[in-house]
Amino acid sequence: MNFKNILVNQENGIATVTINRPTKLNALNKLTIEELHEALVQIEMQETIKVVILTGSGEKAFVAGADISEFAHFSVNDGGRLAAKGQEMVFDFIENFSKPVIAAVNGFALGGGLELAMACHFRMASDNAKMGLPEVSLGVIPGYGGTQRLPQLVGKGKAMELIMTAGMISADEALNCGLVNHVTTPEDLLPLTQKIAHKIMRNSLVAIRGAIKAVNACYTDGVNGYETEVEAFGNCFGTEDFKEGTTAFLEKRKADFPGR
Ligand code: COA
Repeated sequence: MNFKNILVNQENGIATVTINRPTKLNALNKLTIEELHEALVQIEMQETIKVVILTGSGEKAFVAGADISEFAHFSVNDGGRLAAKGQEMVFDFIENFSKPVIAAVNGFALGGGLELAMACHFRMASDNAKMGLPEVSLGVIPGYGGTQRLPQLVGKGKAMELIMTAGMISADEALNCGLVNHVTTPEDLLPLTQKIAHKIMRNSLVAIRGAIKAVNACYTDGVNGYETEVEAFGNCFGTEDFKEGTTAFLEKRKADFPGR
């Protein structure tokens, strides 16, 4: 996979997607959004890839937001289209991705950068990371799902404060409020994320796909999450992974899931 603004590395079942515009602190411009979408479409089709890690290049930033220079002169319609297209192509796409997507937040995750991390299934952070939604300091609001996903993760009051103050929080504060799951040193960020990815990969990825769908149903308007869970649970009984998982347990051995 050859891209201009992102790097995709595939190793041992893990695809690491690195946003690679370090001189612009990995800000998300139009091309980067398009390339992320294209990379994810290709990753979804590749059976050898089981888990995706999303990170930023350089030591300073995960992603410092949407590229301000690109939207500074937008009209009302342009602004609406920017948000709608980005949400569809990348943010909602990641949230509903059938394979686990983990954000490894290695520095500034601001605006669209934090929104990107929040669209991932869960987040890891290095201890130098700084997170926030500074949009109102620019006269705009979060447009890539931030007003919806931040309250889901940290609660309404904390989300309101973060959005209204446009302030940044440290990795430890993010850990305390449930925005990230683990904080580690910058050197250990990718190794620890890979360790968790490998732990995930030992399980049935077909079952995990059903679990992602059921958990997401909890946050989808007009969808009954309990019904989604019942359907996804029932579907597991028709998979080879279920046969292997239960047989391995009864035979007192480790399961070797075929992923079907
Ligand atoms: N969009 C476009 N360019 C960005 C950017 C963004 N969101 N964030 C950083 N950059 C660019 C800067 O313009 C600068 O480019 P230049 O060297 O060509 O001038 C480069 O990245 C380095 O950023 P700089 O501001 O010099 O680094 P810093 O260490 O002084 O500050 C930040 C770091 C993250 C605090 C600061 O870059 C910042 O506030 N960025 C914008 C964050 C934001 O509001 N994001 C939400 C957008 S909706």
